[in-house]
Amino acid sequence: MNKRVILITGTPAVGKTTLATKLAEKLSAQYINLTELTQKEHLAKSEDKQRGTTVIDEAKMRRKLKATIEKTQTDIVIDAHYAAAVTPKVQVTNVFVLRRNPIELREFMQKRGYNQAKQDENLSAEILDVCLVEALQKQDKQKICELDITGKTVEDTLSEVIAVLDGKRPCYVGTVDWMGLLEREGKLDEYLKT
Ligand SMILES: Nc1ncnc2c1ncn2[C@@H]1O[C@H](COP(=O)(O)OP(=O)(O)O)[C@@H](O)[C@H]1O
Ligand SMILES: [Mg+2]
Repeated sequence: MNKRVILITGTPAVGKTTLATKLAEKLSAQYINLTELTQKEHLAKSEDKQRGTTVIDEAKMRRKLKATIEKTQTDIVIDAHYAAAVTPKVQVTNVFVLRRNPIELREFMQKRGYNQAKQDENLSAEILDVCLVEALQKQDKQKICELDITGKTVEDTLSEVIAVLDGKRPCYVGTVDWMGLLEREGKLDEYLKT
């Protein structure tokens, strides 16, 4: 079987790293976390102090990933909210966009101690489907799987991902509508601030 290059993307705190590390273990795949790779390979261009984030050199990262994927013999799992933007499309076999109801996502971010600005930014990104839109812009649609993991255990999500990889479960995009859900609950203004 040809090696698989699996992207795990989604809004920060959605649960990417928790799932991706388990998936890599299960598949005996190489796990690549792009935050770690940025540090290790000096792929940062600058620091955005105001937003508290690192601006990466996307071209450099794309070259690095291309070379790493070429020389790796095993399956590869790539973990980052921007994984779809920087991994060469021809090499990618599967893209999983993890989604979490903004109400639960906010609880996760609060537990993690994200400040208010960061919470608002990430909630907007989740409500406006930013990672999904980026995946659709940068990768082949038929490879993209949007998974609503709200309220699910990591094991449940892992089983769903494996079922998709084994061809036992179809892939869809367009499965969530947080905007509609929040609007119906009268909570859209509370959650979509920026
Ligand atoms: N299925 C889950 N159920 C409950 N908590 C989870 C689940 N997946 C992740 N978490 C928790 O949510 C937080 C964010 O998860 P993490 O995997 O680090 O997200 P990301 O890598 O997308 O930023 C962590 O505190 C993690 O323990
Ligand atoms: Mg992570």
